[in-house]
Amino acid sequence: MTEATAKQSKYLEGERYTMTCQPKIVIGFTSGAGHTEVLARAVADGAIERGARVALVRVDELADSDWATLDDADAIIFGSPTYMGTASAAFHAFAESTSRRWLEQRWRDKLAAGFTNSACKAGDKHSTLAYFATLAAQHQMNWINLGLHPGWHTTAESEDDLNRLGYFTGATAATCADLPVDAVHHADIATAAFLGGRVAEQAAIFLTGRAALADTHPEVTQEWKEPEHV
Ligand SMILES: Cc1cc2nc3c(=O)[nH]c(=O)nc-3n(C[C@H](O)[C@H](O)[C@H](O)COP(=O)(O)O)c2cc1C
Repeated sequence: MTEATAKQSKYLEGERYTMTCQPKIVIGFTSGAGHTEVLARAVADGAIERGARVALVRVDELADSDWATLDDADAIIFGSPTYMGTASAAFHAFAESTSRRWLEQRWRDKLAAGFTNSACKAGDKHSTLAYFATLAAQHQMNWINLGLHPGWHTTAESEDDLNRLGYFTGATAATCADLPVDAVHHADIATAAFLGGRVAEQAAIFLTGRAALADTHPEVTQEWKEPEHV
């Protein structure tokens, strides 16, 4: 671990709430040649490590039971390779097939997050993440960002650091298209695992808060003094 990565580990330590529940997280992804699947598994590892129950679901081959798993999730983490500057056609087909759920608002208030791999360092990955966030918003889900400062933006840092590619919206990886799946960069794998842990933690916060508020009728304890308009 470099000095900069050690510095970033404050994020890992800083967000260590005691997990009082086990959120259900589904990672819904597509992967052409397997690189994005490596990230999906890292996201899963990170979430499990933080105490979540996790299901990995290939959204291009969904059985009825997979739809039930998606519907039952507290959080859905979307993943796809970046193809032609957006998510894969298979992912878009999945997104379109959620329209009935959109109509029924079945995924409302679930948490959402996303990750992608592409061949170029940049490669328009942001478009893919932004698309995931839009899909989440259409479903009235709550988007969870990566929650990491960029890891490689000063000379003190290196490509070995978390979030080396400097995205904020989600977890990203850059893997040359001709490299095998075991060549996915270790920092990108660690970043994906971080996202999984963060979503697990945020889901626990939401679940705990929801449970705490369920039977209460909060009274107004503070007067709201409306600011003067200029
Ligand atoms: C049809 C197609 C379009 C692609 N478009 C992009 C792109 O826009 N940007 C980029 O950096 N890489 C692009 N690539 C490379 C892939 O993103 C990369 O090889 C892929 O993420 C590997 O992940 P996978 O093994 O999960 O499929 C493209 C590859 C294919 C096959």
